[in-house]
Amino acid sequence: MIAQGKKVYKLGLGQSPFPVPTPVAEALKKYAHIKDYLPVKGLYELREAVKKYYQKSQGVEFEVENIIIGPGSKELMFISQLVMYSELPLPSPSWVSYAPQAKILGRKVSWLETKKEYDWLLGSEVLEHYCKSNPNTSKVMILNYLNNPTGKTYNEEQLKEIAEVAKKYGVIVIPDEIYGELHHEGEHVSIAKFYPEGTIISSGLSKWCGAGGWRLGTFAIPKECSWLADKMASVASETFTSVSAPIQYASIRAFEFDDEIMDYLRRSRKILKTLSSYIYDNFKNVCIETPLADGTFTIYPIFQI
Ligand SMILES: Cc1ncc(COP(=O)(O)O)c(C=O)c1O
Repeated sequence: MIAQGKKVYKLGLGQSPFPVPTPVAEALKKYAHIKDYLPVKGLYELREAVKKYYQKSQGVEFEVENIIIGPGSKELMFISQLVMYSELPLPSPSWVSYAPQAKILGRKVSWLETKKEYDWLLGSEVLEHYCKSNPNTSKVMILNYLNNPTGKTYNEEQLKEIAEVAKKYGVIVIPDEIYGELHHEGEHVSIAKFYPEGTIISSGLSKWCGAGGWRLGTFAIPKECSWLADKMASVASETFTSVSAPIQYASIRAFEFDDEIMDYLRRSRKILKTLSSYIYDNFKNVCIETPLADGTFTIYPIFQI
């Protein structure tokens, strides 16, 4: 339809409106000639850069051996579910791919209800109720914040409460933090701070770095779950092998988070914040409620008849 000159509004993939930061794009040019396969878990220097990033930004420690680089976090989510044989408690509303992935793998999805009055965030009592009602199964919960579709996120207190319940019932938490760096105020906090031994952080370059098409995702796995890193690597070895070599080399530059990258992020956040409140106000003017996003580039209008 686009080729026919028709106007198409794409409501599918959540795409950053911004270009890849210049120094990162320059790094890709520099490494374009690199042609060999890389290690299955990812280029060592890149995994080291990811480890340092979490150390600096969240104060959480991971071992380089337990960082996995994949062709998008989506693929890493899928293979983590493949090797874990767990039920998937999933707060609703949710990003569109978690439940279909579970379905493909024959895993059970249990939707956890959220409420408009609580900004569509998961209340720890909802998780507790679910855990009490399903005592005999192993559970891996994907907790997406900043959230797609709502744009909302948790404060430290809320994260602590969820972490406490997850710890009590042995639930492994996979926070999908792919939008973390797009918190409008740059104040993203990871639940890994409060439950380091049971949290596997999923993220990547697709959103904050404007690089969805680069297909670079990261999993940071605590040492207590290093068996998972090895099992995921076995699957990766027999499927995608490794992420494109030039992309991995160039991504090291992105994870430096130096002044140039921080400046890019500050400008991105400012534009996104302005856009969010503009859209929020305009929907409000025509009586359509939307939560005011804390970050991301998604918006969740509630159309009620
Ligand atoms: C919440 C969420 N998680 C994960 C992804 C996929 O990210 P990636 O490009 O790393 O596979 C998306 C992309 O739309 C997303 O919105």
